[in-house]
Amino acid sequence: MRAKEPIEEYQADQDLDETTAEQTGFGRRKFVSLCLGGVGALALTGLAAVVYPLFRYYLVPHSTQSSAATFQIPLNDLVAGEAKFFEFNGSAAVLLKKQDGSMVALSAVCPHLGCIVQWEQNKQDFLCPCHAGYFTADGAVISGPPPRALAKLPFNIANNIVTVG
Ligand code: FES
Repeated sequence: MRAKEPIEEYQADQDLDETTAEQTGFGRRKFVSLCLGGVGALALTGLAAVVYPLFRYYLVPHSTQSSAATFQIPLNDLVAGEAKFFEFNGSAAVLLKKQDGSMVALSAVCPHLGCIVQWEQNKQDFLCPCHAGYFTADGAVISGPPPRALAKLPFNIANNIVTVG
């Protein structure tokens, strides 16, 4: 019996690979495609993790006033249960008239990694969308990774004008 030539051996291996791929329905090309798809998905996830917080920051409703050291708003413009977002000292802030009529002014910057919180009017709490951090209407941490409460900002009311700062 003669030994197989290298070319015959190679051909036999190829036939075996194709048979195996046909049997399993999972060839090398499919494997490489899946690997490349996985790398692409990871890259997109990483990109989203960087871009989303920036996107959120620029979605914050900005006041018509520039980023001043004070923010003023007529008392009558505040509705119980609603929050007004504005820029304060170059950062996002929020003034909330709670349902009981009392008010609170807070930094809208999450103390975890700096994303901007959202007011959930139906739940009357703040949500940080980046890592699901929840805060009470007073800014205290309810759950999630934030290590501390939202920072309180000073405000006063005079002549039916609310002044933050
Ligand atoms: S940045 Fe707000 S929970 Fe992470």
